[in-house]
Amino acid sequence: MRMYDIIEKKKRGGILCREEIAWMVQGFVRGNIPDYQMSAMLMAIYFQGMEDGEITDLTLEMAHSGDMVDLSPIQGVKVDKHSTGGVGDKTTLIAGPLAAACGVKVAKMSGRGLGHTGGTVDKLESIPGFRTEIPREEFFRIVNEHGIAVIGQSGNLVPADKKLYALRDVTATVDSIPLIASSIMSKKLAAGSDGIVLDVKTGSGAFMKDLASSRRLAEKMVAIGRQAGKRCCALITNMDVPLGRAVGNALEMREAIETLMGRGPEDLVQVSTELAALMVWIGSEPGGCSGKAQRTEGWADVRGSEAGKGIGFSQAEEAGLARARERVAEALKTGAGLRVLADMAEAQGGDPRCVWEPERLHVGDKRLEVKAQSDGYLGHMDTEAVGIASVLLGAGRSRKEDALDYGAGIMLHKKYGDPVRAGETIGVLYASREELLEPAAKKFLSACAIEKERPEPEPLIYEMVRG
Ligand code: URA
Repeated sequence: MRMYDIIEKKKRGGILCREEIAWMVQGFVRGNIPDYQMSAMLMAIYFQGMEDGEITDLTLEMAHSGDMVDLSPIQGVKVDKHSTGGVGDKTTLIAGPLAAACGVKVAKMSGRGLGHTGGTVDKLESIPGFRTEIPREEFFRIVNEHGIAVIGQSGNLVPADKKLYALRDVTATVDSIPLIASSIMSKKLAAGSDGIVLDVKTGSGAFMKDLASSRRLAEKMVAIGRQAGKRCCALITNMDVPLGRAVGNALEMREAIETLMGRGPEDLVQVSTELAALMVWIGSEPGGCSGKAQRTEGWADVRGSEAGKGIGFSQAEEAGLARARERVAEALKTGAGLRVLADMAEAQGGDPRCVWEPERLHVGDKRLEVKAQSDGYLGHMDTEAVGIASVLLGAGRSRKEDALDYGAGIMLHKKYGDPVRAGETIGVLYASREELLEPAAKKFLSACAIEKERPEPEPLIYEMVRG
C-alpha cells in the first residue's frame, strides 16, 4: 500500500477499507508515515467525511494502538463518563461521586485542559497533594474501596490519538465529526468500562457550535459504543454559556464541592444529576440503554414523572430511569456524594479538608471586577472567548509545556438572561499576577453582550441519544 493512494482515494470521497485504515494508523504510530502525509489525510477527511463503518474501523484501530485496560479486577459494573469539552464544565467531579455513591464503579481516566476548555485532571490537581498518576493496582484498589478514582491517561493509552490530536491541533482539523468521534471513543474503548455516558456540548463554547452537528456527533459516538458492545448514551447539553458560575481549576473545584454540599447553581446541578442518573441507569438497571439507537428530543421538557413517555421509552425503562434519578437525588441530599469525593481525594493523596472546607482551596489574590457598560440584560456570550480569558489569566495552557496557575479564573456574577445595570459587576477575574488582569478583562468583556430586551430562555439539555 502507498499512503499517496489512500490520500488520493479519500480526497475524491472514496470509502477506505479496514485494511487501509489499519495500515495507515499503524504506520503513523510507528513513524513510517510522515506528518505531512497524515496532515493531508486529515484535511481530506475533514472535507469528505467518513461513513459510519470507516469511523468505527478508525476508532477500533486507534483504540488498539496502545494498552487496552482490563478493568476486571474491579468488582461491579464500570461506567465511564465523557464530555466533548466546554467552559466551566465540572460535571465529572459531581456526577462521578454521585454515581459511585449509588453503587456504580467509576474507573475514570481523564484529560487535561485543551485549548479554551478545561480538564478534570487539572481541576483535581488544584487539591494540594492530589495524585493523578498512580500505579494500576492502586487505581483498581481505590475504585473497589471507594467506588471511584480519577487519574490521567497513562503513557501508552491510545498513542494514535496523542499523535493525531497534536497534528489536528496545528492543521485546523480539530472540529471534524469523524475525527472527534474516533478520538473520544478510542480512548473510552481502551479505558475498558462496561458503559459510557457522553455529554456532547453544543454552542459557542463547544467544539460543535450548532445543534445539528452536535447531534450527528452524538449519534456517531453512541453508534460506535454500541458496535463495540458497550451500553452507551449521550446527552446534548447547552454550552452557549459557561456551566455554573466558576471557570478555572480551583474555582471550579470549589463550585463542584459546594454543589455536592447542596448549594450549587441550578444549571450545574441539573446537568450533573442527569448525567449521574444516566450512569446509574446504565450501570444498574437491567434494560438501561440496551435498546435500538434513537433520539429523544425536548429532553428538558419531558423530565419528571412523565419522563420519556411517548418518545421511545418503554415503561420499564421509564421506571428504571426514574429510580436512578431518585437515588442520585438522595445521594446529593444526604451528602453521600460529598463523602465519596472526600474519600477519593484522601485515597489519591489529596488533602480531604479541602473537600469539607472548600474555601481552603487557594484562589488568585489579584482580582479585578469587570463591570457592565450599559443597562439591559446579559445576552449571548461568546463562551469560547470566556474560556480564552481564563487561559490568559493562567488557568489554561497556551503551549503544551506551560505551567498552570490553579488559582486563576473567573467567577460569573451574571448569567444569560440576568438584568444588569451599567457599573454592576458581571464577573470577577482571579490571577496571581496583576499584569494578566487587564488583557483578560478586555477579552472577557468582548464576550459579554448586553441586550435591551430579555433574551428568550434556552434549553439546558436539548436531547438524549441512546443506544
Ligand atoms: N476531545 C477529545 O478527546 N478529542 C477530540 O477530538 C475533541 C475533544
